[in-house]
Amino acid sequence: MPYGSRLAAMMTRRIGRECVYTPSARLALYLALRRWCRPGGRVLMSPVNDDVILFVVLAAGLRPVQAPVSQWDGNIDPTAVPESTWRNVDAVLTTNLYGLPDRVVELRSRCDQLGIPLIEDAAHAIGTHVDGQPIGTFGTAAAFSLSKHVAGMAGGFLAVEDARTRRELELLRDDLLTPRRLRDDLTTTLRPLARSAVRTLHLVRPVWRTMQRLKLLERDEFRMALHAPRLARSARQAPSLTAYEPWVRVDLHGFRSRHGALVRGQLELRMTLLDGDLARRRTGVSLLSGTTWATPALRERAGDGPPSLFRVPLLVHDRDTLLERLVNHGVVAGYVYDPPLDDYAGAEFVEPSPDPTAARWFAAHTLPADPLLARRIAAALTKERATPAHPPLPTKPVLDTTPTPPTPLGQ
Ligand SMILES: Cc1ncc(COP(=O)(O)O)c(C=O)c1O
Repeated sequence: MPYGSRLAAMMTRRIGRECVYTPSARLALYLALRRWCRPGGRVLMSPVNDDVILFVVLAAGLRPVQAPVSQWDGNIDPTAVPESTWRNVDAVLTTNLYGLPDRVVELRSRCDQLGIPLIEDAAHAIGTHVDGQPIGTFGTAAAFSLSKHVAGMAGGFLAVEDARTRRELELLRDDLLTPRRLRDDLTTTLRPLARSAVRTLHLVRPVWRTMQRLKLLERDEFRMALHAPRLARSARQAPSLTAYEPWVRVDLHGFRSRHGALVRGQLELRMTLLDGDLARRRTGVSLLSGTTWATPALRERAGDGPPSLFRVPLLVHDRDTLLERLVNHGVVAGYVYDPPLDDYAGAEFVEPSPDPTAARWFAAHTLPADPLLARRIAAALTKERATPAHPPLPTKPVLDTTPTPPTPLGQ
């Protein structure tokens, strides 16, 4: 039986596509980019994304082309991408940022017209649907992450269209896996338990502050240090996962480890809890989308009931101060993608967006709120007198504009 096939079968049952198990979503994305893009190719993507994904694209020997984005959700705005850019890209990579879906129907038809692959990053979007169809089933391939929704600290999938492609990718994956080490498996199994113990014992604040003081965090800022000269040297070896490992492994050092039965057994158990987790997220999203800080992109989707997001993008003034204050309320937000990737990495490593305004604004004002902590976050923001931010740009009507003024919780 192929490695991880029980987990892969569980995922196939969920989304109805052939799946390859991978130890992380980043490895799944790397596999997809290697399989469908020739080195030197150009990949259209949103600059409001995890920096790790930028390095995955670079590791695959590709040029990341930064797209204009929607100011409401940070995902690619296909209508704002210049025709000259469309004519010069070899693939499109979505983000489904925080679980809010990309404009996949438009992207799919564009990619079909151009004869290029659509690769879906569904790491944040395991429970997201568009017109009743799961995100991750629109593209040529899609990457999912178990580290996100089921807090597994390991695990992912690459979903593909047919069994032959799956078998081909299983072989490609096996070549990239590093051998199993019992010590790493134990750490991977125990870390999620330690994290939930910290939460249950209300130790988030002291533990986080201590980690900051002892410099145990891999990022001092929202973005990891770029190390430009070293990155330029790695480019000479691309495509190569090993050459880019110092960047690609950040936050998940076991991203290419061949985990044993202990880790995979724990992930199987966690996957059986996934539907309960998604339902709890929906409740939290419903609460947060009724607050004054919620992005209007949520109201746009209100007709389908609350989505089960990974994070709820709240748009606030003075976001950085609020993030600091939230720690005092026992909340460490994370997943802040500021500055956008073109401002972070520069033109040497990425092709800048022709219109970076919306990405900059969204990245600077978004506070990603965990819907599982909705009550606590809404109460904390109310106490801290957080004020909602509105984009300075002329707005396209993206939403149901019915004037139902939402109120902050507790007022
Ligand atoms: C948008 C996005 N895609 C992919 C990943 C990679 O997921 P994993 O940690 O499972 O490799 C992340 C990680 O945070 C992410 O934020």
